[in-house]
Amino acid sequence: MIAAPSPKGHEFGAPDTGRVEIVRGEGAYLFDAKGRRYVDLGATHGAGSLGSGNPEIARAIAAQASTLVHLGSGYANPVRSAFLEKLLALLPASFARVFLSNSGTEAVEAGLKIARSATGRTKIVAALRGFHGRTMGALSATWRRELREPFEPLVPGFVHVPFNDVPALEAAVDESTALVLLEPVQGEGGVHVASPEFLRAARAISQRAGALLAFDEVQTGIARTGRLFAFERWGVTPDILLLAKSLAGGVPIGATVTTEEVAGRFRGSHHSTFGGNPLACAAGSAALDFVVRERLAARADRLGERARNRLGSLPEHKVREVRGLGLLIGIEARTKVVPYLAALQGRGFLAIPAGATVLRLLPPLTIAEPDWDAALDAIAEEIARG
Ligand SMILES: Cc1ncc(COP(=O)(O)O)c(C=O)c1O
Repeated sequence: MIAAPSPKGHEFGAPDTGRVEIVRGEGAYLFDAKGRRYVDLGATHGAGSLGSGNPEIARAIAAQASTLVHLGSGYANPVRSAFLEKLLALLPASFARVFLSNSGTEAVEAGLKIARSATGRTKIVAALRGFHGRTMGALSATWRRELREPFEPLVPGFVHVPFNDVPALEAAVDESTALVLLEPVQGEGGVHVASPEFLRAARAISQRAGALLAFDEVQTGIARTGRLFAFERWGVTPDILLLAKSLAGGVPIGATVTTEEVAGRFRGSHHSTFGGNPLACAAGSAALDFVVRERLAARADRLGERARNRLGSLPEHKVREVRGLGLLIGIEARTKVVPYLAALQGRGFLAIPAGATVLRLLPPLTIAEPDWDAALDAIAEEIARG
């Protein structure tokens, strides 16, 4: 017998009430069933950097959907090859191999397995406030206790050091360390930007210990921080780069990119049925073409700078700090941000938190300038009033 629909809804773990029901998207706008328009200040959790309903992505998906949606990775495929070539052409020449999957957490899992296998070591050093996903390996690298505790014991061998603390990192990395795993900007953890000294030290410390260095750019990658990849700002190149979210314009994808040297040391096997499917790769190629042609990294840089100038004058007794890079911005309030989010929603702006007291802004990189200015004005007004 098929169970009758529950009045509480069917989704595991989703709140039963209070969610806006969105039925359509267009650029930086999301619409509910009654046609009410919202400005999306969360880029549908970072996956919508190129805007919802992007016509170029839609055309690529439609053409590929009627050609070949899925193909096992045992077969070569020109759409996949073209996408991989495009992605590698945008990265430093040291990157040579890509494992494709379907999400950020899978990109991280592959990175963890590759690092352990390639080094023959087990220890993974990550950072306090870091977020890397919710599958068991990625969750072991994620820091927040509430996310970890219900699922313990997690994978052994993970340690966390304070972010931007070079001596702590130095003390934690030793000859048993397989991987140092860091976000250049901690997104979920409250929008904390890595200091140049920290990332440079991470490169030197891991190299000295014979460990690998991975940057989790699931949230910061693909032009979000004002560079195509955030690590470009620091001039520090990792051994492993983790990408997902908007890499395929909103179609599920994950990518674990490694050097030839790391790939050559990998023993064992890792595989995904859906990873690298032609539909995601066609969308990925269209997305990369769009990001480069529209110079979205430069746009993110410019609009981000404008936001930091506008938000820099928020009253000190209401706001502790405004942080971020490009269009990944955190406003740390002195109180919980839920009332601000609710007030903004009432005014037609959908923003998301990063922890209890940080209002996070990561709009589509294509957001129209008047909408961005209106959003910044509304945020400033609500904070001043709150
Ligand atoms: C830095 C980082 N890594 C990994 C993940 C996990 O990605 P996904 O939700 O696609 O599994 C996220 C998601 O927010 C993230 O921000």
